[in-house]
Amino acid sequence: MSTAYVNGQFVALEDARISVLDRGFLFADSVYEVIPVYAGRSFALEAHIARLARSLERLGIANPHDASGWRALIEQLIEANGRGDMAVYVQVSRGASARRDHRIPQDIEPTVVAFCQTRSAPDPATLRDGIAAVTQADTRWAYCTIKSTSLLANVLAADAARAAGAAEAIMLRDGEVLEGTSSNVFAVIDDRLVTPALRDAILPGITRGLILDLAARAGIEHAEIDGLPVAALRGASEVWITSSTREIFPVTRLDAAVVGTGTPGPVWTRMRACLQAMTHE
Ligand code: PDD
Repeated sequence: MSTAYVNGQFVALEDARISVLDRGFLFADSVYEVIPVYAGRSFALEAHIARLARSLERLGIANPHDASGWRALIEQLIEANGRGDMAVYVQVSRGASARRDHRIPQDIEPTVVAFCQTRSAPDPATLRDGIAAVTQADTRWAYCTIKSTSLLANVLAADAARAAGAAEAIMLRDGEVLEGTSSNVFAVIDDRLVTPALRDAILPGITRGLILDLAARAGIEHAEIDGLPVAALRGASEVWITSSTREIFPVTRLDAAVVGTGTPGPVWTRMRACLQAMTHE
């Protein structure tokens, strides 16, 4: 995973450089995507490119490429990195200006950076036993629907989860479940698959959307609900998290308590098989 992309050039990762005056570095004035790649084939690439375009538009950053330009760039990077199992990270910042200034300069070119990281198949123990998650008060900003690199609140919550021996923190506002620090949340409650309905405090996850489509196709009763109280999550028979890098992980311990039977549930088993069939088709 040694080749990176910086503003039109493919370079060795250790030689990849941006300016210290880049607004992504100074202000987190930037957005990103993480695209999974299975045996050299990007997965759900169009959906990631479309979300990147929406994030850029929300921040008024000019999109440096159209969809086919993004596709070509990402495919070239995958090729340069050996076409294996990986995740492509793409970041677009508003660019670097001559001086640090909160106000947005008008004549500025976006900075585009991309690189790859290895992505391994989930640990068999995770799939057999599930993961632990903890709940955390959500201290993020209001516009989490934008996939911004302003992730300090996510970073601190993820680290608090790690310190508590958990693999993810599930963020709550006013007693309602929103999402994980880098994942969306699903639960099976009274035999129905539910996930919080999208709003400004939730990233519209690509995996989340796929799971909802797959549930519809598999005839699994499901709903996006306005407000999922944490008490309902605690009483769920299954809880999962979903993301492009973790796919779909069962949560079998939430804070100090066991979720459902304490083992990955039957709906998760079914949906994971559906997702696997898609990623490996
Ligand atoms: N994060 N919610 C948040 C806050 C996220 O950061 C992510 C993904 C998701 C899941 O979205 P998707 O299914 O499109 O990956 C939900 C990526 C993987 C990351 O930051 O590394």
